[in-house]
Amino acid sequence: MPRIIDCPETAPLELGDVIAALNDPAFDPADEDSFAAAGVLLKGLAANRQFLADIAVAELKDRCVRQTRENKYSSQVIMLHRASEKYFIRANFWPSPRDSLFKASGTSPFFYHVPHDHNFSFLTVGYLGPGYWSDYYEYDREGVVGVPGEKVNLRFVEKAKLDLGKVMLYRAHRDVHDQLPADEMSISINIMEASPRQPFLDQYRFDVKRCEIAEILNRTATEALLAIAATQTGGNARDLVESFAAHHPSERIRFAALRELAAAAPGVDEGLAVLDRGAASPSPFIAAMSVREIARVQAGRGWLER
Ligand SMILES: [Fe+2]
Repeated sequence: MPRIIDCPETAPLELGDVIAALNDPAFDPADEDSFAAAGVLLKGLAANRQFLADIAVAELKDRCVRQTRENKYSSQVIMLHRASEKYFIRANFWPSPRDSLFKASGTSPFFYHVPHDHNFSFLTVGYLGPGYWSDYYEYDREGVVGVPGEKVNLRFVEKAKLDLGKVMLYRAHRDVHDQLPADEMSISINIMEASPRQPFLDQYRFDVKRCEIAEILNRTATEALLAIAATQTGGNARDLVESFAAHHPSERIRFAALRELAAAAPGVDEGLAVLDRGAASPSPFIAAMSVREIARVQAGRGWLER
């Protein structure tokens, strides 16, 4: 369950005031207490009932140039501030099943009914509407290898919604929620932890009935490019994939490189030999993922060798 940050009612803050406070070097979103202490800033921003509409109108007048440049999310999100590698601020729209947007798009663009943790911490506040619902869970990340199908000690905490003005701190790799549609169109505002290492930290989707990791949710461009580079011969592209497989600090990237080297091998047996190297890895993640991949290749062998 995210940590509920009890904040007194405060005077409205301008977005610029919040940014100035967060730019203080003492603010460290990787430190739980430092991040929680920023909750009062978000509470003050939520008390400002005008700033978000002003930003939305300004963006529309400017053909959303800034959103196109800075917003990597869908149109569910308005990026409000992104200027440092430490944090960014965004607003999120949470349609209800009665909204035409929901009827047209379904649940998946809004991440409803997808139990997940986060590979970052974030502060959130209910800004408009009754707020999205969540079934909240917690789990202990320590000792988790991160392989789909792995059992984790997922514990249901409660079903709750992000009420207007409620401030919560979602803790990275600990709080899990199965997000459910808001009863009415709602908006939340987040201060998000950011860091260059984030793309390499894994975020999971869970099977909450089986208390299992269902899949790793995050992907990077690196993984896609490794698949291409592994097929390139005659240059140093393949050397690079070999180097990533051996030395990349992220286990997920090391395994991806190994998997692509195997996929690019001239025959199934040569590919399986590459994966055997992975199965003998001292990294439990790479070893387990390699064993899974070996089983997958062997299951499809008849089709692969046609
Ligand atoms: Fe989430």
